[in-house]
Amino acid sequence: MLYKILVLPILQLINPEFSHLIAEKFFQLHFYKVFNLFLFRKKSNEIQTNVLGLELNSPIGLAAGYDKNCRILYPLLSLNFGFVTGGTITLQERFGNPKPRLFHIPKEKSLINSLGFPSLGLEKIIKNLRSEADQRIFLSVSGIKHDEIISCIKSLENKTRVFEINISSPNTEGLRLFHDPKELSKLIKEIKIVTNNKILVKLPPWLESENNDLLNLGKTAIDSGADGLVVANSLPIDDEKLAVGKGGKSGKILTKNTFRMVSEARSVLGPDPIIVACGGIFEAKDVWNALASGADLCQGYTGFIYEGLSYAHNINKELKKIMDDKKIRSTEEIKGEPLL
Ligand SMILES: Cc1cc2nc3c(=O)[nH]c(=O)nc-3n(C[C@H](O)[C@H](O)[C@H](O)COP(=O)(O)O)c2cc1C
Repeated sequence: MLYKILVLPILQLINPEFSHLIAEKFFQLHFYKVFNLFLFRKKSNEIQTNVLGLELNSPIGLAAGYDKNCRILYPLLSLNFGFVTGGTITLQERFGNPKPRLFHIPKEKSLINSLGFPSLGLEKIIKNLRSEADQRIFLSVSGIKHDEIISCIKSLENKTRVFEINISSPNTEGLRLFHDPKELSKLIKEIKIVTNNKILVKLPPWLESENNDLLNLGKTAIDSGADGLVVANSLPIDDEKLAVGKGGKSGKILTKNTFRMVSEARSVLGPDPIIVACGGIFEAKDVWNALASGADLCQGYTGFIYEGLSYAHNINKELKKIMDDKKIRSTEEIKGEPLL
């Protein structure tokens, strides 16, 4: 509550990239531990979720892009996320697109960004990762050439159990190479040769009116050996406030579209491949609806920005309450239940 009334409005007055930097410092300098003491006085509700052979304490994770350089993965995990996605990591250092490239739209609870993968690059980021893989840390990697992605995967092999391959940033032109099913299939097969980790492919979002090229691309990824899909990245839009004139929109506007995409993906893929719902997940009801539509896990980014430090904690608490009311004992049982 304090976050929404006091902290968020102040952060929104500041340049959004600067406020992100402040947030990063808050975590790096361990201030969050004081807040955790107050916020999480009672033991957190754990909603055991077994997916991809991993035992996670919650189906809600943090989406890629918040901790691009993997500096604060463990402080973020302490906020009761079931998992945190580090990255997107690129092979070379990248500065991203010119500024301005990030806006808050509080009325819509959305964000618009055209960051375009600012990244310290693999060599520096790898130093921020612990020596042993932690099943709660997923790593997002990308590149505009096969070799770039393969080099990242090889170097990060022992740092994670799950790779998320980002072929869907709306702000990086070169990624469209992997929207060609032949190129994507080749990439996944190459990745399979160099990793024993699970592979998720993050798709761009598709709208009801669009044909199913992207859904078919997802099917190609699975047929080529990927374990699952993340559905989906932010929605490509034109916006003249951005220096590059176009970017991606995220947040509340995506919520319903996410449920529809998950349900379409589930009916095309069948029961086995993993589906991670991403886009407009703000509260426990959204997680329930995403799982009921066929997802195995959820991720949020914009919801975390608007709801604050207790985002995952509140989702876990409320989701547990909904499950208890409905006498549902595991998140797997939510699949196929009516939406709320
Ligand atoms: C500022 C910002 C930066 C992002 N950076 C990345 C990124 O580096 N890699 C990625 O796969 N997705 C990135 N995303 C997309 C999010 O992970 C997520 O897919 C999208 O925002 C939709 O979810 P949401 O509505 O919960 O934010 C970014 C989103 C935002 C708002």
